[in-house]
Amino acid sequence: VARVTFVTGKGGVGKSTIAAALATRSGRALLVRLGARRAEPVPGPAVSVLDVDGATALGEYLGQALPAALVRRVTESRLYRAFVAAAPGLRELMTVGKILHEARRYTGDAPTWSAVVVDTPATGHVVQLLAMPAAAAGAFGGLVRREAERLVAELADPACTRVLPVTVAEPLAVTETLELLEALRALRLPLGPLVVNRVHRAPAVVPATPPDASPALAAALRCAREESTWAAANRRELERLPAPRVELPFVHDTAELAVLAELLP
Ligand SMILES: Nc1ncnc2c1ncn2[C@@H]1O[C@H](COP(=O)(O)OP(=O)(O)O)[C@@H](O)[C@H]1O
Ligand SMILES: [Mg+2]
Repeated sequence: VARVTFVTGKGGVGKSTIAAALATRSGRALLVRLGARRAEPVPGPAVSVLDVDGATALGEYLGQALPAALVRRVTESRLYRAFVAAAPGLRELMTVGKILHEARRYTGDAPTWSAVVVDTPATGHVVQLLAMPAAAAGAFGGLVRREAERLVAELADPACTRVLPVTVAEPLAVTETLELLEALRALRLPLGPLVVNRVHRAPAVVPATPPDASPALAAALRCAREESTWAAANRRELERLPAPRVELPFVHDTAELAVLAELLP
């Protein structure tokens, strides 16, 4: 069974970058993108990408039980579309079910994936997503309940699941992250260290630009002063964030995923 890492956090903090870095680190990784724009590139040759939305996840679920032609007729019907749109909770349950099913998949005798990494969209969405199996286990009976209870058990097991919250050390992001951490703790999921992305490091003191400085030196010092302002702001915000944390540096080329991958838990 491959472990599933849910990469979560506010928009723009670096979730997709970090999910891609984690996926490239593993031999046969599956990168699951929830609600991704299809245009995003696949990070590397060893990585398979699965774009999941609730409607296709449900269709694939049905496909395990029903003949393909029948599934197509059902999932292409207006009634089905309306049903999925009207039952967002069900959609989320199916999405989690689909992801955990992938983690358990075998090709012959070997697990199909060495790791499953999930790139999630906005903060609120992931809490809803991960809360749904427990809610469904309480709300339904019979088959749905049994399925939901199995998902709850797998989500709670650190060997199966971990949630990796990502933030940047900036005021609004930190405030939102503190709320996210509280919501995730309430769900009692295995919570990885907090990843603080794009941390600037710079000397605290940058010398003044001498009057006879060349344009290149003046530009470099201006750059250093700017970095040092960012670094100071980052340090202030880092103090508001709880341990355990892992800090990732601001890199000038995110194509260097390997650099970030090495630092990731
Ligand atoms: N460690 C980093 N250093 C510099 N830029 C980064 C770093 N991580 C991500 N970025 C950049 O930040 C932007 C947002 O990252 P992205 O992964 O798309 O965030 P999200 O998926 O959370 O919205 C992108 O332009 C990305 O290249
Ligand atoms: Mg993204």
